[in-house]
This record gives sequence, C-alpha cells and structure tokens, in this order.
Amino acid sequence: MNPLEYTVRLNNGYEIPCVGFGTWQTPDGDTAVMAVSEAIKAGYRHIDTAACYENEVGVGQGIATSGIAREKLFVTSKVWNTERGYEKTLAAFEKSLSDLGLEYLDLYLIHWRASASHYDNWEEINLETWRAMTELYKAGKIKAIGVSNFLPHHMEALMKTEVPPMVNQIEYHPGLNQEETVAYCKQHGVLVEAWSPLGTGRMLNNGELKAIAAYYGKSVAQLCIRWCLQNGVVPLPKSVTPSRIAENAQVFDFIISEADMQKINAMPYFGGSGLHPDKVNF
Ligand code: A2P
Repeated sequence: MNPLEYTVRLNNGYEIPCVGFGTWQTPDGDTAVMAVSEAIKAGYRHIDTAACYENEVGVGQGIATSGIAREKLFVTSKVWNTERGYEKTLAAFEKSLSDLGLEYLDLYLIHWRASASHYDNWEEINLETWRAMTELYKAGKIKAIGVSNFLPHHMEALMKTEVPPMVNQIEYHPGLNQEETVAYCKQHGVLVEAWSPLGTGRMLNNGELKAIAAYYGKSVAQLCIRWCLQNGVVPLPKSVTPSRIAENAQVFDFIISEADMQKINAMPYFGGSGLHPDKVNF
C-alpha cells in the first residue's frame, strides 16, 4: 500500500491521510498546477491550501489534471481573516469551493483566531464564524471542521459547542513544538497538523539535525517530517520541486529512536516564523 494513504481518524470518525502536501507560498498558475500534479503522482492524497494563499485555482487545476478520483483525495482550505463572521464565512466557503472546482471540502479551518488585541468581542466573532462552519459541516459540504493557529484559550469556547473542532493546524517543527497547545489538543481529541514542518526551510542547515539525519541516512527534511509523525502530528511539507516532493514522501522506511526523539523535542527555540497567534498584526 502507498504509505501516504495511511490515515489517522479524526474525532468525528473521518479519516485524514497522515502526511499532507503544503502549498503556502506556492504561486498560482503553472507552478501550483505542476506542484499539485507532481504530489499526487508521488502518492500524496492530502492537499492543504487556503484562500489567502491565492492559489486555489491552480491547486484545483492540479487536482483535476491528475485524473484521480475525488474521493481518494483529502482537500483542506481555510477562511481568511477578512471573512470572519457567519454570512461572510458562508460566502468565503462557496468562493473557495468554486475556485478549487470541487463540490465539497474534506476540511475547512478558521485560518487565524480573532484576537483580543484587535476586538473586544473576539470570542463572539470566532463563534459566529464557527456557526457557519458547523452549518456547512452538517449540510455535508465539509467532512471535518477545525481551526488554525489557535492557542488553548482561543479554543475553549469552541470546544463547548455542538460540533467541537476536529483539527488545529499550527506552526510546528524542531525548535517550536508548542507543547502546551499540543497537549491541550491531545487531551481534547483534536488532531494537530504542522504547517512549516521544515521551518519554511530554516531547519535544513541546523548542525544538530544534520547529524541526527545523517545517522539514519536521511535528509533533514525527511527527519523533520518523520519527527512530526512520531509525535502524532500530521506534517504538511511544501515544495514546488519535483525531486523534493518525492523525497519528502520517503519517510516510512526508518524509525527515529526514542533517545533521538527526545533530543529533538528538547531543542531550544529556533527557526520560528515569529507569527505568534496573540501578537500578529492581522
Ligand atoms: P521549494 O518549494 O523551492 O522546493 P515548509 O514545508 O516548512 O514550509 O518548507 C518549505 C520550504 O522548504 C520551501 O522553501 C521548499 O523549497 C523547501 N523544501 C521543501 N522540501 C525540501 C527538501 N526536501 N530539501 C530542501 N528544501 C526543501
């Protein structure tokens, strides 16, 4: 079996392939079409995009040209910050669906929480967005719903709703393993996904990671992806380079030892984007 088809079960029973293909910073048009087609050819069955990446049209064309049956793919998109609230979220969802050329999404996420520094009623705004997502979920237009870049205190109100989130997608890589958020999610049955599992490339020249990767005869990129998997986190590596897209899928033929996992888990902060959910200015 193609190991990229291995799945993890979400808290609503829906299955999500354990490695996704990231498309943040992938330009729309030919590049997005090529990258997504290459990924599907390499065996990826889980594609992650977002309205704000401005590449949903190309991602959708990549899916269409691959010729793969829709039900074999898991496709995620996200509602952007300017579209929060009930009515706007419903409209944003329809736009994403139409840009992607799809009839349903597997996963739809709130891209960033409305923050207390910007809005006195931030929690109410998040709940209104969530009400729209819940409605779309119940109508079968989305198979699973979740959040992205939410810290535990952003999640609390949503966890008490009729349909609590199934996923939280956060920045996650060596040097930024967000222990508190991951522990909260695990405790509440919310699957964690890793955006920038390679630190947007910033992991790749780290000496300690290079030494560990060399021991396994693997690249640092493969080590980081495998490290996510062994921590129960779904990695979403991004690449527009066919050889790297294929390389990043070769992560099922080695096991990182417990000692090395602990060594990587304990690495001090480095290589983060600096986009802290309580501090970002958007
Ligand atoms: P490119 O897209 O030009 O191939 P992340 O997934 O953490 O966001 O990291 C994505 C960045 O890492 C991109 O710049 C991507 O480059 C690069 N990258 C992805 N996979 C590899 C790899 N196997 N080796 C080296 N660089 C990689």
